[in-house]
Amino acid sequence: MSFTSPEQRQAFIADIPKAELHLHIEGSLEPEMMFALAQRNDIDIPFASAEEVRKAYAFSNLQDFLDIYYQGMNVLRTEQDFYDLTMAYFKRIHADNAIHAEIFFDPQGHTERGIAFSTAIDGILRALSDAEAHLGITSKLIMCFLRHLSEDDAFATLEEATPYLDRIAGVGLDSSELGHPPSKFSKVFAKAKMLDLKTVAHAGEEGPPEYIWEALDLLKIDRMDHGNRSLEDDGLIAKLRDSQMALTVCPLSNLSLCVVDKLEDHPLKKMLDLGLCATMNSDDPSYFGGYLNDNYEATAVALDLDKDDIITLAKNSFRGSFLSENTVAQSLQRIDDYVLAFDRKTG
Ligand code: ADE
Ligand code: ZN
Repeated sequence: MSFTSPEQRQAFIADIPKAELHLHIEGSLEPEMMFALAQRNDIDIPFASAEEVRKAYAFSNLQDFLDIYYQGMNVLRTEQDFYDLTMAYFKRIHADNAIHAEIFFDPQGHTERGIAFSTAIDGILRALSDAEAHLGITSKLIMCFLRHLSEDDAFATLEEATPYLDRIAGVGLDSSELGHPPSKFSKVFAKAKMLDLKTVAHAGEEGPPEYIWEALDLLKIDRMDHGNRSLEDDGLIAKLRDSQMALTVCPLSNLSLCVVDKLEDHPLKKMLDLGLCATMNSDDPSYFGGYLNDNYEATAVALDLDKDDIITLAKNSFRGSFLSENTVAQSLQRIDDYVLAFDRKTG
């Protein structure tokens, strides 16, 4: 069914209950907070204003962005910094009617510059607990390995995480994809699986279909981040459709990093039409110009998504989550109730 007006579409998107499954917490560092933390921690940053920072966010590929992203996180020094960063994100997605989020953090981005693993994770975990208590948003934490570093470094990070394993839902793989195939991390992912951790990996954002096959066959991932380039391989499409593996798709990120030339070329609608379990996500919202509902709205306009597409995306965000079967079923019911009430109200 199509929407009768842009206002109706906006209202429907704004209020539908949803989850976010692909969000790097360090990528939610807004320029204003970057300045505030730089001042609080007495750090020099090479920009005069938040506007100037935003102007510097013009990327032509993933590596362009990563260079600025790792530089930006340098202002995060104390447990309170990580708490404030995480809490700001949860307050922001509360306004988008997100009721669950599974967020990434990059511990090596912090330990490499001398910040203790515990400083980062303690602040993040305290915010996750407060977000649930005060905003009613549930969450899970996924620890990513930086793929431009070695597998030995990833093993050392997994070792450091030992005291926290009961509060870490899974491990992921992010950073520079080209030249760092999933096979580089097959041993550490096998170890994570033995520890009962879920596994996810960025695959097919810039990398070829072979990397996606490796993520599936060697890392045995439970969920795929991006997966855009799956559509180049019919065998992959069939496998992803048959297994209903969730893809955490990030349209505004793909636009910012020139994975697509324009949003109208984005493969999300094609993924849905092929029956893939695609979900909508923001990736690094402060760098890519939009949070969760901005992604829904911009993509709905560009790809002419209808109401059923939005419902499918919202439902997929729970189907693809690591929530219990029971909670997923309740969340799907919540969406059905929302749609019924919306239809009644709008006639
Ligand atoms: N780290 C933060 N954002 C990322 C992305 N979009 N791809 C790979 N690594 C990332
Ligand atoms: Zn990402």
